[in-house]
Amino acid sequence: MARFIDELKRTHFNGDLRATDEGKEVVLFGWVASYRDHGGCVFFDLRDREGVTQVVFDPNLEGAHGTLSPEAYECAQTVRTEWVIGVRGVVTSRGGNKNPKLATGDIEVRAIELTIFNKADTPPFEIQDEIDTGEEKRLQYRYLDLRRAPLQKTLRVRHRINQTVRSYFDAQGFLELETPFMVKYTPGGARNFLVPSRMSAGKFYALAESPQLFKQLYMVAGFDRYFQIVKCFRDEALRVDRQPEFTQIDVEMSFVNQDDIFKIMEGMIFKIWKDVAGIDLLEKYPSGRFPQMPFAESMATYGNDKPDLRFGMPHTDVTDLAVDHAGGGIPFFKDIADKFTSGAYRRDLPTEIVKTMRVPAEYAAELSRAELDKLEDFVKGMGSKGLARAKIDAAGNWAQSPLGKTVTPEFRVAVNERTGAKEGDLLFFQFGKEAVVQTVMANLRVHLAKKLALIPDTGHGGKFELLWVINPPLFEYDEDTKHWAAAHHAFTRPHDECVEMLDTDPGKVLCYRYDLVLNGFEIGGGSIRLHDPEIQAKVFRALGIEDEEAREKFGFLLDALRFGAPPHGGIAVGMDRLAMLLSGAQSLRDVIPFPKTQKGTDQMTDAPNKVDASQLKELHIRVVEPPT
Ligand code: AMO
Repeated sequence: MARFIDELKRTHFNGDLRATDEGKEVVLFGWVASYRDHGGCVFFDLRDREGVTQVVFDPNLEGAHGTLSPEAYECAQTVRTEWVIGVRGVVTSRGGNKNPKLATGDIEVRAIELTIFNKADTPPFEIQDEIDTGEEKRLQYRYLDLRRAPLQKTLRVRHRINQTVRSYFDAQGFLELETPFMVKYTPGGARNFLVPSRMSAGKFYALAESPQLFKQLYMVAGFDRYFQIVKCFRDEALRVDRQPEFTQIDVEMSFVNQDDIFKIMEGMIFKIWKDVAGIDLLEKYPSGRFPQMPFAESMATYGNDKPDLRFGMPHTDVTDLAVDHAGGGIPFFKDIADKFTSGAYRRDLPTEIVKTMRVPAEYAAELSRAELDKLEDFVKGMGSKGLARAKIDAAGNWAQSPLGKTVTPEFRVAVNERTGAKEGDLLFFQFGKEAVVQTVMANLRVHLAKKLALIPDTGHGGKFELLWVINPPLFEYDEDTKHWAAAHHAFTRPHDECVEMLDTDPGKVLCYRYDLVLNGFEIGGGSIRLHDPEIQAKVFRALGIEDEEAREKFGFLLDALRFGAPPHGGIAVGMDRLAMLLSGAQSLRDVIPFPKTQKGTDQMTDAPNKVDASQLKELHIRVVEPPT
């Protein structure tokens, strides 16, 4: 029987011991974070997930609990960092050598007995809180990276979120139910990963991009309130806030409207902030509710549907002013205005727009000419032709600007008035295709806020701005096919008063879809579903989806909706994004234990990898190598 583990059980974790434990005999296990040999005494910092304790091997130790044997002392001298050891010893005061930076800094453990459970190779990087090792290497040895305190802390945040979510939904009468990962491929939405079927030659499953259709089926089956903390899989271009494999807090409810869903989710967010981060959001949102912003307002004011409200600098759309003033003396604006006046552009379809953003004088003063030129490069990187700008002088003129040379006084005054521009303010302009202008202006606003230190580069900076973005259009106009397409998914319910317009004016139909936004990130999204086959058929017609096509794509759901579907709706919150934003992490990779790289690969296991010809044969698959 082994002395340690079998006989000597761990008494404490390495973060536990305090001055009040003085005199106790303890058994500690862990990793050697550092060691020092100080003329006779050997010191270890012993680490585990709860913290660090200083352990001293003093060859002259004597006391009621025993002495340190010469063999143990000799053994201690051989130990190196990251070795896994166990010690038995006595908690002793550090006297005048206390370490106030360490929770256990008042004490040390004077060792009596030592065992080495395992030696360790020299790690490829130090297991410290702050390291400058490249991410690639850290991901390759992720288990060592995860040993570091910051990541241990983040994963605890994740654990705490999971526990809080489960207890919250359980208390609210939700059932935690599972849904399959291997599902039928349905087009639309995110691109799926495909899984070849061995038993059905040439056929594929898709990995579920979300439990969407199945959670609706749970409602049809009468489960009333469902939730799941669930993995989703999407083969998309990866970004800071996107991983191919991510986790959703997925929710569906029967007999509810949009506001009922908001209340449940607000309750969840309040509880997570309170229980996980110790923050009482009631101080900021005393009503317990988050503000709501119509989609159209969000697009007009912030250029996207996930505005960061931690700072101002809203956009102002001045397309109508440009049209009313026939371009206002600015040739580019005139080109756009003419297309509206001649009828070439319809106001109900995506066109070209003119947008401006006012940078207040106090911030404008901080931007040197060189920095303004750099902003120009920034917008060009996003497909813009340039960044027209104007500085407002004492008389309201547009100084330091080519626009100022030709602009008509009337248009200038109208723009100054609408934007509230005063002396010293800067106006930035973007014009052209709506989608490009919106993206460029949205990104410019955030980029500038970081530059002006209105928000930190990453992290929340102590501010949490939450809101619902509501009432978006049901359809998006696809310029390539010149058709309306579902903006979200085809089962979103239109506003009742818009149903009439499904046939006549689809672009104006608004729907019960909503996004939950935090500090400029979409952390959740959902909708009230279409449970009524009649309206369903109308929506499909507006989308140009024929009956046969609808059956092929969604047959099982359409069937289910005919067998007594309750009115229902739901939402999914991106758990990784939530953890990232709450813990102030830089990217999703910092809150996912074993994440994929930007290229979708796993540095540690080397996935995806090639498989044997025999495996491919079994799956009836032949690989066509891409040209080199
Ligand atoms: P949606 O597609 O909006 O909705 O996804 C919900 C939330 O999931 C998060 N998310 C992601 N997080 C990390 N990496 C990704 N690749 C990724 N993609 C999405 C976002 C997003 O807000 N079935 C619907 C929900 C519903 O209607 O009930 C759905 O999946 O935070």
